[in-house]
Amino acid sequence: MTADRSLTLTGARRTMINVIRVAYHTLGCKVNQYETEKIRETLEEAGFATVPFDSPADAYIVNTCSVTSTADAKSRAAVRRAVRANPDAFVVVAGCYAELEPEVFRAIEGVDLVVPNAEKDAIAQRIVARFAGAGHRRAENEGLSDDGKRKPQSAKPGRPRLRTRAVVKVQDGCDQFCSYCIVPHARSVKWSRPIEEVLAEVRALAGFGYREIVLTGIRLGAYRSREREGRGLADLVGAVAEIDGVERVRLSSVEPWEVDDALLAAMQSPKVCRHLHIPLQSGDDGILARMNRPYAAVEYREIVRRVRERIPGIGITTDVIVGFPGETEDAFANTRDLIEELGFSRLHVFRYSPRKGTAAASMDDRISPEVKRRRAENLIELGKNAMRRFAESMVGQTLDVLVERRAARSKRLIGFTDNYIEVSFAGDAALAGRIVPVRIVGVDQDGGGGVLGFAHGFDQD
Ligand code: SF4
Ligand code: F3S
Repeated sequence: MTADRSLTLTGARRTMINVIRVAYHTLGCKVNQYETEKIRETLEEAGFATVPFDSPADAYIVNTCSVTSTADAKSRAAVRRAVRANPDAFVVVAGCYAELEPEVFRAIEGVDLVVPNAEKDAIAQRIVARFAGAGHRRAENEGLSDDGKRKPQSAKPGRPRLRTRAVVKVQDGCDQFCSYCIVPHARSVKWSRPIEEVLAEVRALAGFGYREIVLTGIRLGAYRSREREGRGLADLVGAVAEIDGVERVRLSSVEPWEVDDALLAAMQSPKVCRHLHIPLQSGDDGILARMNRPYAAVEYREIVRRVRERIPGIGITTDVIVGFPGETEDAFANTRDLIEELGFSRLHVFRYSPRKGTAAASMDDRISPEVKRRRAENLIELGKNAMRRFAESMVGQTLDVLVERRAARSKRLIGFTDNYIEVSFAGDAALAGRIVPVRIVGVDQDGGGGVLGFAHGFDQD
């Protein structure tokens, strides 16, 4: 263990302090990213230093993902990198892969702690205890209340970095068991954060200057507040939008069957982004049934119609899986036609790969890699065209853009509209982190859906 090192501080007095270095690596979704951030914030508040993952550290935390076998392989590789970087370090492995197959990590020499998802909130306390010389026994149940349930998470966000968009996890768990998906096996218990706790975190983030709050969860649409008689996501969105300083509220992803009228009513608020990510996965009823997705193509189409009617100009983005077992040419054509018809503003295409432990992994009628590749290419092309058409439909309008960064080469500013189009325009770097009205003047050459505009009050180049 190399925890005791001396740092020299500048100033009148030379003070000797011990700094414990912690390195983090996260795989997987926004929820996993958020959970790592919480651990990092808690440890930084406790005086621990964050260092890059490939540098020598006293503790490594690898937050794994198991969504595909590639994610598994990357997770194992990250743990091995940590052990190699400092064989004496305290190595903690958490996340969905650690939950599903803890023995894989226990078998890796150099791994000190494998943490199940239910105890993830206690990782920071365990590390503090470890380096304070306290025994693990005492720290073991921190993060869990007496009845074994989770304690509320800290509402205090840590030190802010870039103050544009902040992700807030409000929900965990899914029990839908879509046949291709491992997530319910790793996070089966549906759980929602108390609304007051979420609001306190958002107030603090707004106080730090964050403009946009992204609400996220494993199945966001399943959010149910306990204090407000189980009222759902719509209530939460409305309450977050009312907080002073919050200029935008965005939803990460909502399943089609959870897009209800109450949610669409809450989205009428000018603060709520005109953007919904509604996973489609397939446009063929037979495949949807095999996937255990509880809707038919005609219902999905109707949802999109309703959403567009209530929220004009909304950007609807989606996910689709190609090459699911049994996907015939006709079934694929149904998906392709529906995608063409619905005009998504962004399309994420995934090639199906069997995930051990899921129902679909043992299904017959596998699709060859070559066919999957062809179908994926086909949809990616469709997606690009649809994205371009959506961006073109905004030309001539003035849209509010949250400026996120300055392009390295062109020095143009880059940001996103509320309906999730990436915009670049000439402007002063001081606009970074602000929401500015930008007139959309054209769509860029690569058809990537990026649009060109100029901010009011600034010259176009
Ligand atoms: Fe997985 Fe389906 Fe649950 Fe989404 S809704 S997390 S795809 S089981
Ligand atoms: Fe991966 Fe678990 Fe998220 S499997 S995608 S980290 S819910």
